[in-house]
Amino acid sequence: MTKIKCLNPISHVGMDLLTDNYELTDNFAEADAALVRSASVHDLELPDSLLAIARAGAGVNNIPLEKCADKGIVVFNTPGANANGVKELVLAGMLLGARDIIGGANWVQDHKEDPAINKTVEKSKKQFAGTEITGKKLGVIGLGAIGVLVANAANHLGMEVYGCDPYLSVEHALNLSHNIHVVKDNDTIYENCDYITVHVPLLDATRGMINKDTIAKMKDGVIILNFARDLLVNDEDMAEALSTGKVRKYITDFPNAKSANMPNTIAIPHLGASTEESEDNCAVMAVKELTDYIENGNITNSVNYPTCSLGPVPEGVVRVCIAHRNVPNVIGRFTSILGEADVNIRDMVSKSRGSYSYAIFDLDHPMQSDYLEKLSDMNAVLKVRIIEK
Ligand SMILES: NC(=O)c1ccc[n+]([C@@H]2O[C@H](COP(=O)([O-])OP(=O)(O)OC[C@H]3O[C@@H](n4cnc5c(N)ncnc54)[C@H](O)[C@@H]3O)[C@@H](O)[C@H]2O)c1
Repeated sequence: MTKIKCLNPISHVGMDLLTDNYELTDNFAEADAALVRSASVHDLELPDSLLAIARAGAGVNNIPLEKCADKGIVVFNTPGANANGVKELVLAGMLLGARDIIGGANWVQDHKEDPAINKTVEKSKKQFAGTEITGKKLGVIGLGAIGVLVANAANHLGMEVYGCDPYLSVEHALNLSHNIHVVKDNDTIYENCDYITVHVPLLDATRGMINKDTIAKMKDGVIILNFARDLLVNDEDMAEALSTGKVRKYITDFPNAKSANMPNTIAIPHLGASTEESEDNCAVMAVKELTDYIENGNITNSVNYPTCSLGPVPEGVVRVCIAHRNVPNVIGRFTSILGEADVNIRDMVSKSRGSYSYAIFDLDHPMQSDYLEKLSDMNAVLKVRIIEK
């Protein structure tokens, strides 16, 4: 029986996927695997029994990744599981930028006691009139899980969409509508688009990427959407551009002390992924990653070990899974120990990521336990596991 510790409540839609081979435990010290959302794992003692931690969400700064990797504990996250929730809010953000819906709704609240409001509305409404998004040019910076969905949806709404991503993955390229103009650099987006939406991670290379220099390249009256991270935008430069009208509206899901006080800004309290569906999707993805690792030893969407898979364990096969340090000659040593054990390797895969590696060997029949000990005793080896069906 595999013992799972939930460090936070996890949506039942995900937990329902656990079969009778799993049981929940309250005691982290005896857990084989853990599921977590925002609880901090930094101060917890990691038990020797722990094989994996799955974070139902994208950010993993609540988990000590290096410490886990060093103990052979694989940490997973759920990239893209909340992408649709963010995409829908970006579309709402564009519409809020195009028309003064918020100003109009506030006006109705301010005049709700007026018995003739149905007539006054008609006289006052022109101050809230706006534009339509159909036919406008949208630039999407970063065509990852969220950017691709935004680009495709905006295209369906009749926008002319430009996208830029220097590291566009094959998976995301395949999901991108052929109507999207994929451009080589962000300048093409800055110079041509009426709306610009940013969907890149916060890295040294992207920090402050929307600044006075890039804004200067943009069309007058551009609308900028930031549903990624506040520090992608230089707030001083944005405030200046908003006050002159160079930027018509700034819509952000990451308000801070500066942007919350800027003119012509719509700041939303980080609601992008705050949907029931996003929470369910994250839980389902986290549980699937965890159970595939426990039952088959496969790694998908890990943040401290490489992606590595041989699919489901075939009938009659003994699978040996080894988390180890990425040092020379380790695979040669593994295969010679398996050779000494006189077992046939039917299939194998080995992948590395930074200082850590992971190898899976499918054997035609079991090997004696002393060879397993030989593998475990190697200095470079962090965890060895046998899976049999
Ligand atoms: N508002 C929210 O609630 C919410 C929720 C989830 C994610 N996010 C944020 O949204 C952003 C995108 O998330 P995602 O899940 O789509 O990530 P992702 O990793 O799937 O996609 C990011 C893309 O940006 C690209 N990229 C990196 N540097 C670039 C650059 N300089 N120019 C253009 N493209 C570049 C990458 O190649 C990648 O394809 C992240 O910053 C993430 O933190 C926000």
